[in-house]
Amino acid sequence: MDTKFFKENQIEEAAEEIKTGGLVAFPTETVYGLGANALLEESVKRVFQVKGRPSDNPLILHVSNFSMVQRYVDNFHPLTRKIVDNFWPGPLTLIFRLKDDQLPKAVTGGLSTAAFRMPDNRKTLLLIEKAGVPVVGPSANTSGKPSPTKAEHVFHDFAGKIAGILDDGATNIGVESTVLDLSDSLKAPMILRPGAVTKEQLEDYLGTEVLLDQHLVKQGEIPKAPGMKYKHYAPNTPVEMVHQEDWEDAAEWSSSHRAGVVGSASLKKFFPAGTVFFELEDDSVEAAARGLFAGLRALDDMGLEKIFAPAFSEQGLGMAYMNRLKKASEQKFFEKR
Ligand code: TXA
Ligand code: MG
Repeated sequence: MDTKFFKENQIEEAAEEIKTGGLVAFPTETVYGLGANALLEESVKRVFQVKGRPSDNPLILHVSNFSMVQRYVDNFHPLTRKIVDNFWPGPLTLIFRLKDDQLPKAVTGGLSTAAFRMPDNRKTLLLIEKAGVPVVGPSANTSGKPSPTKAEHVFHDFAGKIAGILDDGATNIGVESTVLDLSDSLKAPMILRPGAVTKEQLEDYLGTEVLLDQHLVKQGEIPKAPGMKYKHYAPNTPVEMVHQEDWEDAAEWSSSHRAGVVGSASLKKFFPAGTVFFELEDDSVEAAARGLFAGLRALDDMGLEKIFAPAFSEQGLGMAYMNRLKKASEQKFFEKR
């Protein structure tokens, strides 16, 4: 199969491909998704197969408006309307209880709840609208590898295996959406996966408490989102997180080893000439989140011994960033030996 790059004037064609069962990757503000018609069991199964994704890890249904959700859900959490009005389209996935068995089992992994999200990308909203069906979309990467933030990343993982890619350049946020559980009307909303919509933002806006799944806080707790238990985001080269105060020691280590760095230009002064850098735009956590996956991908397969990436405090977007980086590095921080 030839994997096609769909242009802006071919969105209709891409939508037809999805509607009739093909797989088309699509851009969002977070990462690229691997799209398929959520109502066709065979296509949904093919998504799992192409990614090598465990079948108990349910998919997000991408919608172009809220009424698309109402086809599948009738019992909404009282805060739903308020949340949707403010955060959709945007990097916030909402978990609702389904009203009946209208969706193929493969989508939800047999759960009685499902995840919905309206992505903030004009081309993709048009794609979903033209397809006229909810579009499943896990991140468009081989399971376990860093998520794709550019069409080229999707092509690298899936060339020849999917019908096409709707290209919209690099994604802006770089880490996947916040997953918020609203499935129990009597309970406070709970964050199952941190993302760019933060606990602080939700609480400020709603004026009520928002919970964090305990596994995000304590080691050893079982995550409520099935996908959070799997190994993720890991390149083949070992990754280590570097605390702000340890960059000089990491640079010293690099003088006798082959290291790569995902970091801003301000770190270059510490490192020996010839150290491979994937340059972040600046020292902010936003820039780190935007560039992390692209950096890990770019520096992998270069025969490096280690890839260093900056650690941030786990506040605001830092919580989502560190959640991904900790998985990529298997919790390992650089330590001077
Ligand atoms: O930003 C994103 O969310 C991207 C873009 C493409 O939209 N998509 C994405 O999908 O990250 P995926 O499949 O890689 O992650 C979906 C997460 C998984 O951790 C999954 O376990 C969880 O959402 N999830 C899906 N349905 C769920 C449900 N009914 N209950 C609890 N967790 C659920
Ligand atoms: Mg993923």
